[in-house]
Amino acid sequence: MCGIIGFTGERSAVPILLDGLKRLEYRGYDSAGVAVFNDGKICMSKAAGQLSNLREKIRDSANLTGNSGIGHTRWATHGAPTETNAHPHISNNGKFSIVHNGIIENYESLREELKEKGFDFYSQTDTEVIVHLLEYYYGFNGDFKAAIMKTASRLAGSYALGIICTDAPGKIFAIRESSPLIIGVGAGENYFASDVTALVENTRNVIYLEDGEFAELTPCGVTVYDCIGRKVDKTVTRVAWDVEAAEKGGYEHFMLKEIMEQPRALKSTIEPRVKQGRVEFEGLELDLSRVRKIIITACGSAYYAGCVGRYVIEELCRLPVEVELASELRYRNPIADEHTLLIAISQSGETADTIGAIKECRSRGASVLAIVNVVGSTIAKLADNVIYTWAGPEIAVATTKGYTTQLAVLDLFALYAADELGRIGAERYRQLLGQIMKLPMLVQRALDFSSNIPALAGRYHKNRTVFFIGRNIDCAVGLEGSLKLKEISYLHSEAYPAGELKHGTIALIDPDRLVVALACHEALLDKMTGNIQEVKARGATVLAVAQEGTKKIVAEADDVIFVPRAEPLFIAAVEIVPLQLFAYYIARNNGCDIDKPKNLAKSVTVE
Ligand code: F6R
Repeated sequence: MCGIIGFTGERSAVPILLDGLKRLEYRGYDSAGVAVFNDGKICMSKAAGQLSNLREKIRDSANLTGNSGIGHTRWATHGAPTETNAHPHISNNGKFSIVHNGIIENYESLREELKEKGFDFYSQTDTEVIVHLLEYYYGFNGDFKAAIMKTASRLAGSYALGIICTDAPGKIFAIRESSPLIIGVGAGENYFASDVTALVENTRNVIYLEDGEFAELTPCGVTVYDCIGRKVDKTVTRVAWDVEAAEKGGYEHFMLKEIMEQPRALKSTIEPRVKQGRVEFEGLELDLSRVRKIIITACGSAYYAGCVGRYVIEELCRLPVEVELASELRYRNPIADEHTLLIAISQSGETADTIGAIKECRSRGASVLAIVNVVGSTIAKLADNVIYTWAGPEIAVATTKGYTTQLAVLDLFALYAADELGRIGAERYRQLLGQIMKLPMLVQRALDFSSNIPALAGRYHKNRTVFFIGRNIDCAVGLEGSLKLKEISYLHSEAYPAGELKHGTIALIDPDRLVVALACHEALLDKMTGNIQEVKARGATVLAVAQEGTKKIVAEADDVIFVPRAEPLFIAAVEIVPLQLFAYYIARNNGCDIDKPKNLAKSVTVE
C-alpha cells in the first residue's frame, strides 16, 4: 500500500525523498508527493499518477530546496487518487505537514468535531483530520511531544505518520500504530521509511519502532519515546540485505512476500468490519429480504474463492447460490431479475469478463455487490455496493493474499446476511464471528507449520501430472491449489471432487501420478480415506493435507502436511496456505519465473 519516507541532514532533501519513493513503488500507488522545510515555510509538490509526473512538476519548481522533508506514495483508500487527496497534507495555518500510511477508522466523527472547531477541509481523505488535530493540540502550549501524543490518542485504526513543522526546523517526527515504520540511522543524517527498501541505499543501520512509539529525528540524533512520553533506549540493527533484495522486502520473490503477508492482509480486511461483536460494512445498502437467489461471478482464482463462498453462504443463509465463470455467464442469457443479488469478485476490479457479466445481469434487474481490492476500479464504480478487500497491492501475477482476503469477505458477508435474514441464532453468530476473527492468527500458524514444504517440493517437483482431490470446501480449495501449481510451475494439474474420480478420471491414476488429497473436512474424512485408498491401490503417491492431529491420514498417505484446526466453514483460507507454498517451491525447484509466469498478466482487461 502507501509508502513513507522522511529525511533530515545536510544534503538537499528532495532527491533523497524521490529516490526513496522510487524504491517503495513496488508497494503500489496512484499518486505521490513531497514536502520540505525551506526558509521558514513548508514547500510542497504533489501529483496524481506515476512518480515521473511528480519529478516533472518538481523540475519546474524553484523552492523545493530544503534539507529536511517527507515524501509519500499513496494507494487510494478514502477519496480518489487525485492531486488534492495525495499526501503530504498541510494544516490550515501552514505550520504542520504530514504523510500517513494506514486507515483512520473514526475519521468521520473527528472531521465533524474539527469542522465545528472551525477547521476547513480540502480533501476526501481520512488523513486530513490528523494534520488539523496536530494544529489544534499544538495551539494549547506549543509542545510538539504533547501535541503528537494527544493527536495519536484520538485516532482509532492504523497509522504510520511522518510529520514536519515550521517551528521545528531540521526536525522530522515519526509515530506508528499497527503500520510499519523504520528509522534509518546515517552519519550526520537520519531517515524514516515504511520499509528498509527505501533506506538501504543510504544506510543499513535501522531502528524498528514498536506500536505506540514516536521518534524525533535531527541530522545528528534520534530520540524515541513510548506512548506516555518516556524516553526509550533502542537498539540499532544492521540490515543484511542488499538493495536489490530489499525491493522485495528481503524475499526472493514478490509471491513469497505476499504469501507471508496474508496474516496482516486478513487482519486489515476483517478487523475494521467487526464492531461491538457484529459484522458491519460501512455504506452497504442492501435489502436482503428481496433476494431470492445469489449468483457469484468472477474469473480464475476469484472464481475459486466464489466456489468456497457458495458453500458458506448456502450453509449459513439457506439461500440458493450459483457460481459461474464470468466469461460464461455473460454469454448465456442469464436468468436474473430484481430478486437476484450478483456478487462479482475481482482483485484488480478491471477484469473484462467480470465487467461484461455484471452488465448482463444488471440489465436484467440484478443488484450488484462487488468484492474488490483496488479502490476506484471499474468494477467498484459499476457496482451498487462494494466491499473492499484490504489486501494491499499485489505485485506477483499469481494471486495469494488477494484470494484469501476474498474468502474472508465472503465469510463475513455470509454471517452478516444470515443475521439480516434471521437465519442464525445469537450464540452461533457469536461463535462463528470469533472463528473468523481468528483467521489471521490461524493463517500465521499455517505458515509456521510449513517448514517441511521445501523438502516435499524437492521430492515431487519432477512429477509431470498432479491431481488434487477433495470433497465440499476441500474440493473448492483444490481448484485454487491446482491453478497455483499450473500457472507458476507449468506442471499439468487438475482438481476433481473426490467422489467423481471413479466416474472417469481414475483411468489416469498410475504409479507416475501424485495425488494431493485435501482432507480437512472432518465430517467427510471416512469418505476421503476411501478415495485415498482407491488411488493408492492404483499405485499413485498421495500427499495429504489435514488438520493437525488427524491420525487416520498419517496411516494412509505417503506424506502429510498439517494445518491448524479451524472452523470447517472457514478453513479454506488456512488450507490454501501450504498449497500456495507447495506451488511456489515446485516452481522454484524448476527454475520458473515465479512472479511473471509466461503468457499471464496481472490484470486481464481484454477478453
Ligand atoms: C491466478 C490469478 C487469476 C485472477 C483472475 C481474475 O493466480 O491471479 O486467475 O484471479 O485473472 O483477476 P481479478 O481478481 O483481478 O478479477
